[in-house]
Amino acid sequence: MSTAKEEIKRVTVSTLQAMKESGEKISMLTAYDFSMARILDDAGCEVLLVGDSASNVMAGHETTLPITLDQMIYHAQSVIRGVHRAFVIVDLPFGSYQGNSREALQSAIRIMKESGAHGVKLEGGEEVKESIVRILSAGIPVMGHLGLTPQSIYKFGTYMVRAKEEFEAEKLMKDAKLLDELGCFGVVLEKIPAKLAKLVTDSISIPTIGIGAGPHTSGQVLVTHDLLGLTKDFNPRFLRRYLNLYDDIKSAVEQYIVEVKSSDFPNKKEQY
Ligand code: KIV
Repeated sequence: MSTAKEEIKRVTVSTLQAMKESGEKISMLTAYDFSMARILDDAGCEVLLVGDSASNVMAGHETTLPITLDQMIYHAQSVIRGVHRAFVIVDLPFGSYQGNSREALQSAIRIMKESGAHGVKLEGGEEVKESIVRILSAGIPVMGHLGLTPQSIYKFGTYMVRAKEEFEAEKLMKDAKLLDELGCFGVVLEKIPAKLAKLVTDSISIPTIGIGAGPHTSGQVLVTHDLLGLTKDFNPRFLRRYLNLYDDIKSAVEQYIVEVKSSDFPNKKEQY
């Protein structure tokens, strides 16, 4: 006799590859804690990304640069405890993989060993080739990230759309093909023209996951805090807000304060 838990079919890299091949779109969202991971997994989201955007939305930093490997592992451990089915990917934070490939492998091994995550993501193409090869050779699934790469924000100076110029588009295509050839299981395409994202998706065998890259990628990813309207001041064109939780939570808390002050809470039924 099988239990309900055993019947859950876990999402793997093969599931994601099969989804690209069959044309079924892949849903991916960020998660940084147990409670949210449980809801997203229960809703059927195939991939959860413990993104280094935790540096912004959880810690309040201006960029993704300050978050540490230890902090990413802490978030990943919490997410893994909430997940039964989704494939969980963890961002290698800034400074944990660019220096040399040996350090990159050590960082990836720490994430996999200490959190129980299923794969890692890192930003860049040709520049981080050696790190990717070394991590892959240890049997760790790697996802690439091209286009707008927030860890390089100070090199570019803006969060504007990337690869609009011919030479940038050519480099991005070359990098996407390289990631495919090296054996990455997927690649995030962030904030690039929809036409280019389609061209890349059609030119490589592995799934592409878009954010601000139009509808033709193999799947989509958003920062969950943005989708739920927990953030207020971030309004790029590509973002669709499905809720306005900032205002909903604020109203609920205002109501709570009023009821505490009026001694309306707790009432007779809410006490022992
Ligand atoms: O850290 C993150 O949230 C990401 C997504 C924007 C893809 O890398």
